Amino acid sequence: MFSRYKKNGATSAPVHPALMTDPDAAVQPDIDPTSAPPEAAPKSKILRRSKPKSTETAAEPVAQDKEKKRRARLDEIKTEMHSRLLDNLNLSALENAKEAELRTEINTITSEELSDMGVVLNREDRTTLQTELFDEVTGLGPLEPLLKDDTVNDILINGPFNVFIERAGKLQKSDVRFKDERHLLRIIDKIVSAVGRRVDESNPYVDARLKDGSRFNAMVPPVGVDGSLVSIRKFKKDKLQIDDLVEFGAFNEEMAAYLQAAVATRLNVIVSGGTGSGKTTTLNALSSFIDNSERILTIEDTAELQLQQEHVGRMESRPPNVEGKGAVTQRDCLRNALRMRPDRIIVGETRGEEVIDMLQAMNTGHDGSMTTIHANSARDGVSRLENMIAMAGIEMPIKAVRSQIASAVNLIVQASRLQDGSRRMVSITEVTGMEGEVISMQEVFRYERLGLKPDGTIIGRFTATGVRSHYSERFRQWGYDLPTSIYEPAGD
Ligand SMILES: Nc1ncnc2c1ncn2[C@@H]1O[C@H](COP(=O)(O)OP(=O)(O)OP(=O)(O)O)[C@@H](O)[C@H]1O
Ligand SMILES: [Mg+2]
Repeated sequence: MFSRYKKNGATSAPVHPALMTDPDAAVQPDIDPTSAPPEAAPKSKILRRSKPKSTETAAEPVAQDKEKKRRARLDEIKTEMHSRLLDNLNLSALENAKEAELRTEINTITSEELSDMGVVLNREDRTTLQTELFDEVTGLGPLEPLLKDDTVNDILINGPFNVFIERAGKLQKSDVRFKDERHLLRIIDKIVSAVGRRVDESNPYVDARLKDGSRFNAMVPPVGVDGSLVSIRKFKKDKLQIDDLVEFGAFNEEMAAYLQAAVATRLNVIVSGGTGSGKTTTLNALSSFIDNSERILTIEDTAELQLQQEHVGRMESRPPNVEGKGAVTQRDCLRNALRMRPDRIIVGETRGEEVIDMLQAMNTGHDGSMTTIHANSARDGVSRLENMIAMAGIEMPIKAVRSQIASAVNLIVQASRLQDGSRRMVSITEVTGMEGEVISMQEVFRYERLGLKPDGTIIGRFTATGVRSHYSERFRQWGYDLPTSIYEPAGD
């Protein structure tokens, strides 16, 4: 039986010829190196350079100036209104209030107070003010529109006036700003106090999770030199699935079929990559290949994974409290997990001493386990594992460390965020054993860069390297008889 990666009944994409069971029916992969990845079209607008200054008409600076003044006036009114609102609203009743009720209440108080202050606003400014006040009172102020905007992936704040967002893989400055550092600090405080944490001069950095599941990190002055630094990785309710990743050009159908075989036949997989390269997304998508009958335990610092299986136990590590007590590390969770009869263990990111327990778990009956690491290539990933073991204080000869790694890890999937903002799986490498003191590896698939379009989009294609999988016999025995054509390199 050969099982394609797509579930039965899925009709969104045609079966790739290379994945058909009948090898005679297979034709060469139809990859057009000149075609832009699907996301390129909407992106082109964002990628467009801003107009050179010289082409600006004289009216533009005047308009910008006017807009600035309008914004400054609105900000002033908002600050005053905010404190008046807090005086007027019954804060303890806020939590249970219905949104519509609260909006009406805020609008009424705003109108009363505005006339009390003798301020007249046009309808547009009044609506803006009311929305912002609502966000300020109930939510996270200026961050609210960005949190609600599904096209925003990351929000990165460098002090109150520099708010950047990542959209379609590109970082751009947003119009959103805080009134001043105090305003930003108040919002940070609101976030962290909701999860029982504190951030101040003596505790200048903190990790937290927003109500919607987004990952949050803040570092406040004096460590943040020019104001607070905040990073938010937005939680995606609908995580990208294998089909989406194939469609977005993160990898191709042959690689998807190969990965399905690898995960289903319980190879131990490490997803390696830089910050924000798509490691967690890939790990999450790969987990969809795990059989529904298996008991899966997940361990993360911030719970991001969303597994589709029925039998999933999720664990989240916990930092120490203000008195420095009560920490539960990933390693603690992992050790405990081994007593919880898991079929598979998934660690969101291995970054420290838990590496030892992870490798042991992979070596001792929990095959099919998965994790991610920060590294720039498969080789680099292995060195990272060696370093983590050394840092954890384990004194073992390097050869023993390497053979432990070689027998634990079967596959390293390298994710990368390319310079055009696209995220791709640039290499799939198998760990095949040891040769002397060196871990032997073979790359099975890779992304080849062929050039650059004038708009900065990278032209490239995925190709097999021509090496047949070290695990093809295992795949076959488990019923994943991949056609040999998927290991043939793409022609010129
Ligand atoms: N192939 C892809 N195409 C488009 N967007 C993607 C792709 N892969 C991931 N993303 C988006 O990129 C962002 C970062 O992805 P992800 O959280 O998986 O990265 P990461 O490598 O785990 O980051 P970190 O190092 O911060 O943990 C997310 O918002 C995710 O939705
Ligand atoms: Mg991650």
